[in-house]
Amino acid sequence: MVTAMKIIYSSFVILYHWLEAIVLFFTPKRLRYKDVSNDIVLITGGGSGLGRLLAVKFARRNAKIVVWDIIESNLNETKRMIEENGGTCAAYVCDVSKRDEVYKTAERVRKEIGDVTILVNNAGIVNGKKFLDLEDEKMIKTLNVNTFAHFWTCKAFLPAMRQKRRGHIVTIASVLGLSSAVSVSDYVASKFAAVGFHGSLSLETYFDGFPELNFTLVCPYMMNTGMFGGVKTDILPALDPEVAAENVMSAILTNQEFLIIPRLLYVTYVMHTLMPLKCFKIIFELFNGPKAMDTYVGKKEKKNLNDKKIE
Ligand SMILES: NC(=O)c1ccc[n+]([C@@H]2O[C@H](COP(=O)([O-])OP(=O)(O)OC[C@H]3O[C@@H](n4cnc5c(N)ncnc54)[C@H](O)[C@@H]3O)[C@@H](O)[C@H]2O)c1
Repeated sequence: MVTAMKIIYSSFVILYHWLEAIVLFFTPKRLRYKDVSNDIVLITGGGSGLGRLLAVKFARRNAKIVVWDIIESNLNETKRMIEENGGTCAAYVCDVSKRDEVYKTAERVRKEIGDVTILVNNAGIVNGKKFLDLEDEKMIKTLNVNTFAHFWTCKAFLPAMRQKRRGHIVTIASVLGLSSAVSVSDYVASKFAAVGFHGSLSLETYFDGFPELNFTLVCPYMMNTGMFGGVKTDILPALDPEVAAENVMSAILTNQEFLIIPRLLYVTYVMHTLMPLKCFKIIFELFNGPKAMDTYVGKKEKKNLNDKKIE
């Protein structure tokens, strides 16, 4: 029951956390970086883009790296980059959209490497077509890779984290998991779902009595990794993946719970939630939002691979 005492107590705790957040905002983050040298970090989609950059950065901090991807040659390249610099990396070909494959590969990782302590759900795909032009199977694939895969990896690795009372789950979502756009209905749906899943799982874990487990939700704007190759928007230039990866690392190493990159988009996120939809549509059009995906080409190599693997 909500009593006056509980309300007063909670108000003081809330005030304390606000003050803490303000102080931490002005404290250099580097001073608060956690040590990951005893961690086993698994990164899905670690064969290229953001996933590879994160793998290399974690390896530099002496963590044991495990990368999963569907493209073996890219995985080998990530492994080579890490081992060349004295790091440790195990690479597994795993299609995260296939539940059985996730469970089987997770079992292999447990036996061959150990219990994963930092899980980065990063693998993602985009089709870039209008809803009515999009084949049903492709929509399903998007949801399988961008959302359901997170269910299976968390199912596989969270129990050991809870048992050891040590672990960190990172969800690489997107600003398109917070706000909608055109020609990305399946992608937006998958990222909103990933955001919702992440939020719910983190709350559940906390209130189940595991406050020492950490959760970080990352929502980046467009990055120059090729995933959104050809897209033309006047909102902001695409992010340099290296800068994005550095921001993501900083958030993970300080156990930050929510990160939007670039920071400016925190403002648009709040504005979008507050403003009438009619106003949002005007602003969206002003910055070429409706036509931004018309020039989308993406990454040809990756698109073909995912086409073959539809089921
Ligand atoms: N690039 C952007 O503009 C952008 C913006 C916001 C969010 N994101 C998100 O960031 C994450 C990383 O994207 P990126 O830009 O590095 O793209 P990327 O294409 O370079 O990396 C994605 C990786 O996932 C792998 N992958 C795809 N399907 C897979 C599957 N079924 N199983 C296993 N691996 C699979 C790919 O092979 C690739 O290596 C994605 O979740 C993406 O949605 C990207």
